Amino acid sequence: MDKIPHEDQLTYPFPKNFWWGSAASGPQTEGAANCDGKKPNIYDYWYSIEPESFHNQVGPEHTSDFYHRYKQDIQLMKETGHNSFRTSIQWSRLIPDGVGEVNPKAVDFYNGVIDELIANDIEPFMNLYHFDMPMCMQEKGGWECREVVDAYVNFAKNCFQLFGDRVKYWFTFNEPIVPVEASYLYNLHYPKVVDFKRGAQVAHNTIVAHAKAVEVFKKLNIDGKIGIILNLTPSYPRSQEPKDVKAAHIADLFFNRSFLDPVTKGEYPKDLVEILKERELLPAVEPGDLEVIRNNPIDILGVNYYQPRRVKAKEEQVPAGAPFMPEHLFDPYIMPGRKINPHRGWEICEEVIYDIMIDIRDHYGNIPFFISENGMGVEGEEKFRNTEGFIEDDYRIEFIQEHLKWVHKGLKEGANCLGYHLWTFMDNWSWANAYKNRYGLVEVDLKNNFKRTIKKSGRWYKKLSDNNGF
Ligand code: NOJ
Repeated sequence: MDKIPHEDQLTYPFPKNFWWGSAASGPQTEGAANCDGKKPNIYDYWYSIEPESFHNQVGPEHTSDFYHRYKQDIQLMKETGHNSFRTSIQWSRLIPDGVGEVNPKAVDFYNGVIDELIANDIEPFMNLYHFDMPMCMQEKGGWECREVVDAYVNFAKNCFQLFGDRVKYWFTFNEPIVPVEASYLYNLHYPKVVDFKRGAQVAHNTIVAHAKAVEVFKKLNIDGKIGIILNLTPSYPRSQEPKDVKAAHIADLFFNRSFLDPVTKGEYPKDLVEILKERELLPAVEPGDLEVIRNNPIDILGVNYYQPRRVKAKEEQVPAGAPFMPEHLFDPYIMPGRKINPHRGWEICEEVIYDIMIDIRDHYGNIPFFISENGMGVEGEEKFRNTEGFIEDDYRIEFIQEHLKWVHKGLKEGANCLGYHLWTFMDNWSWANAYKNRYGLVEVDLKNNFKRTIKKSGRWYKKLSDNNGF
């Protein structure tokens, strides 16, 4: 084993007890979609009616089978330097009918995962919702329906009571804006509704569900912290001209502050409310909603960072009578000369992670947060396999390092960042993209019984974590 260098020998040392790990989710890794009492979620159902919507028609049952292999996988987490790991509890596994009976097999499974992580000195972080609405709940109207909000809060309560004695970090939702965008605005995911006002209702009801879950957590006096995981895409204007700056501000309100402000400051941004009110797009708010949001700020924030959003003032006229879209108020803009990930088409801009840290420090009371996802999706990684049989993903190592340099700078300037989690531990099934883009520290070979092989980045990540820096 290499000798661990002293902090002074590192260019980028990180604070003591910094979290090094990765994030994943139940629906993307567990598999066993129809096993041991689990019932379908919306992705299982969508695949059953439209398999062609998924890359190579690979569906959600083809995940990496963490359900049966978690013990070996947790050993691989150790080998890749994890001191913490996030996954999610699948609602459709724990309470297959959405409400009512808890599934004892699911309790055994999640107990097994949590205990195994702890036995290996890996802090379990549990998230409660990762896009995976149980189909029976979607049939009632999904997030548009208040009965579903109550059912979710009941599910959350069960999770806290069953696992709260050992899980110290809880998250109510992962990227709650994604179901709004993908399923209610841009026609990407089931149920493929395209209707801003319904999307706004989904967003509001999700925030109420979140706040009520936080309230229950506090009432139960669980010895732990609770938060939410948001994907932040800071908006930058094309120029400093007032109309571009305004466009960037509006994009920021819709895509970042719409969730960030209510969960941290307890209220929606006033400018956003104005914009929606003028257009009669405000969601229905029930008595008590604003109070529960106001009274239940989070303890900790997870920030998923992948890319910035660049915008300019709207140039093209919106056709008269077109149903409202946020993009009626700004245009996207591709900044010339920027690094783009060719596989996903996403801009790679490392310093934005620092901007987020400073924004949280200066405008959100420097609340404790961590980078809960950051990562690089690459298609066709097999071509980087070396003669020893593992993938040499130097580009991923560089990607992580370059981001971490900015995290390090943010930390030095006082940002309250507690850790860094990569997306993801092992290559996993990614919704409609299935296995198109690989993100893992560990390769999963679909042609060879989901065989796991640690990539070069996984070996490097172990060193990073052992050294607590680089
Ligand atoms: C964010 C999401 O949380 C996760 O589910 C997804 O697979 C990754 N980003 C990669 O797109």
